[in-house]
Amino acid sequence: MRSGSNAGLAANTTNLQIRLARRPDGTLAEDDFQLVDGTVPRIGAGELLVHVRYLSTDPANRVYMKRKTYRDQVQTGEIMGGFAIAEVLESAADGFAPGDLVFGDTGWQEFARVAASAMLKMPRVEPLSHLVSVYGITAGYTAFIGLGHFGHLASGETVVVSGAAGAVGSMAGQIARLRGCRVIGIAGGAEKCRVLTEEFRIDASIDYKADDLDEALARFAPEGIDVYFDNVGGETSQACARHMRRSGRIVLCGAISGYDSAAAPETGISPRKLANVSITRFLVLDYLDQYPDAFTQMAAWVAAGDISVREDIVVGLENAPAALIGLLGGGNIGKRMVKVS
Ligand SMILES: NC(=O)c1ccc[n+]([C@@H]2O[C@H](COP(=O)([O-])OP(=O)(O)OC[C@H]3O[C@@H](n4cnc5c(N)ncnc54)[C@H](OP(=O)(O)O)[C@@H]3O)[C@@H](O)[C@H]2O)c1
Repeated sequence: MRSGSNAGLAANTTNLQIRLARRPDGTLAEDDFQLVDGTVPRIGAGELLVHVRYLSTDPANRVYMKRKTYRDQVQTGEIMGGFAIAEVLESAADGFAPGDLVFGDTGWQEFARVAASAMLKMPRVEPLSHLVSVYGITAGYTAFIGLGHFGHLASGETVVVSGAAGAVGSMAGQIARLRGCRVIGIAGGAEKCRVLTEEFRIDASIDYKADDLDEALARFAPEGIDVYFDNVGGETSQACARHMRRSGRIVLCGAISGYDSAAAPETGISPRKLANVSITRFLVLDYLDQYPDAFTQMAAWVAAGDISVREDIVVGLENAPAALIGLLGGGNIGKRMVKVS
């Protein structure tokens, strides 16, 4: 096994890491985490040493603490798991070189030793933060895949997006608009609802914290909903399910309303009551091979000014716990991320 030299880094370089101090059994709190000065790891064959640039603050981070998902559950004392855009500092793997940008689960730390096979090479774009937001695997690309594969959108159809002011939702709403659909976004609060119609230029917004969902859905979608893109689950999804048209499609992207507790997340949707509606759950990580084509399409939309990109950048790895807690509480508009270096 070839070990890396960490050449290029000063001998006294430390590696700030955030570890799970204890397993939260209710609402996440800052003292569930611990900041530690670790060391810069050395790599072996097939591995990369990467310098984390931006951490993607993802609702799923909270679920990593609860149970095994597409990754192992984060155990007490372990480095908190999470996706990032990182730059390769050293490579002991074919096909990767210093300076390459990669996406993958580096965990919440400055420097990570990762298996090259688990990393996706990313294009270099300006600003780099766009690799987390509009071109982000867990943001714009998730919306692109979810709607593209399971929405079966037709021009003129009515699409409802929940979590519509967030990372995935803001992109899903705009993609549906660009596909010629009438788009209704559901989000919490007047300011988010203003952004939906004024910045993301979708047709209507519903404030689920203030409005009567059934009344608003009946008003904005009198013929019913063709596609419901679900980011939140729970009561919002139960209401949308009541307004689905026959032959409608429900795309189950996530169920954040149930994440920040000890309980299992609920979609709120009962397939038995929706016999003529297709209901599909998907995981974006199963579709990474289609990223280059999606990137080309999304970049064309961005260049043409057709997609508005909202980013919410928290500076400093030490602020990652607060960033996640705030996200779960609805503090973000657009894609929240943490700038690490
Ligand atoms: N299937 C996949 O492969 C995949 C990939 C990435 C993400 N996801 C899922 O997509 C969803 C959105 O993720 P994101 O990164 O875009 O997050 P986000 O929407 O940017 O941020 C989370 C938002 O959820 C809303 N929220 C929090 N509690 C809520 C509740 N009880 N009811 C309704 N809304 C609530 C908040 O907005 P409000 O102020 O509007 O409440 C908050 O801003 C999540 O469920 C996530 O797990 C799935």
